[in-house]
Amino acid sequence: MINNFAKQCSQSKLSTECEQLIDISRESLSVNNGNIPKWEEAIDEINKYSKGGIDYQAPYLKIDTKNNNSEHLQKSLKKLIPWRKGPYQIGSLQLDSEWRGDMKWDRVLSNIQPLKGKIVLDVGSGNGYFTYLMALAGAELALGIEPFLLFNYQFSAIRTLIDNPPNAFVLPLKLEQMPKKPLFDTVFSMGVLYHQKDHLLHLEQLKTVLTEDGELILETLIIDKKQGNKIIPKDRYARMRNVWCLPSTDTLHTWLKAVGFKKIKLVDVTKTTPEEQRATHWIGDNTQSLKDFLDPDDDNLTIEGLPAPRRAIFICQK
Ligand SMILES: C[S@@+](CC[C@H](N)C(=O)[O-])C[C@H]1O[C@@H](n2cnc3c(N)ncnc32)[C@H](O)[C@@H]1O
Repeated sequence: MINNFAKQCSQSKLSTECEQLIDISRESLSVNNGNIPKWEEAIDEINKYSKGGIDYQAPYLKIDTKNNNSEHLQKSLKKLIPWRKGPYQIGSLQLDSEWRGDMKWDRVLSNIQPLKGKIVLDVGSGNGYFTYLMALAGAELALGIEPFLLFNYQFSAIRTLIDNPPNAFVLPLKLEQMPKKPLFDTVFSMGVLYHQKDHLLHLEQLKTVLTEDGELILETLIIDKKQGNKIIPKDRYARMRNVWCLPSTDTLHTWLKAVGFKKIKLVDVTKTTPEEQRATHWIGDNTQSLKDFLDPDDDNLTIEGLPAPRRAIFICQK
């Protein structure tokens, strides 16, 4: 996956940064993770299947492969569970991930500047479902960065099945490891801010990597202002351990202003539904998802008694 990126990167506006990005990625991949042999075996198996063109046919990112044995392919792809982001369709095999990513993409795409010809950064890209969509929307290069190694392997598995893949890449990097330079025309941070202990630092880092007339798309969990300025969960939030702060949209607006964004526009607030986040066999057998994380008597509350997940999208410029 790194070699493919190296070639494309060297021909792009990022050319002076390729070496650094590649060195850090190689270091991240060289950790001692006992799962890597299993994940590499899965990629080797998947490499033997026939490839096809990729196209977005909502809700699926569809790869038009022919003559593959779906049952065998499913077995290989399941070596890489849990598949949180998607959905994908490979030939007749529907990989129904936990999340219906197309629903978020619908809310995002209608509100952003066209991606055609842009250099795009997708921070916390997961397995690259949105990164592919950014490239298919015409980005010159869409770079996803994702520190969780399994999701990098999932990205590779999907890429392995694509004939003539679009200019989408996922590297095992954190935002903190990116060059502190305004390199990207559009920066996406979707579902990442609430996982950051230092939310202002994350927003500052997003601003640093954005070009002067670039656009930040920030999608994150928020609360209604009736519930206060912000909530800091004492323990878990909707069973997630690492949720540090849930601001109201007014509070988030103040934070964005504090780090120096000038044009800040709230374009969407949507309650997350069990249609968008659901348990499927692609996250494992007998697993739970959103409907199990909500109060069984009141779907406006999480199982911990906090406001149920709602997400906002802000579009920001420097
Ligand atoms: C909830 S997922 C969101 C995935 C996708 N962007 C979406 O909107 O569905 C958040 C991802 O951000 C990644 N992440 C967390 N902190 C990060 C950081 N500092 N830099 C880059 N990625 C990060 C996590 O590993 C995780 O995969």
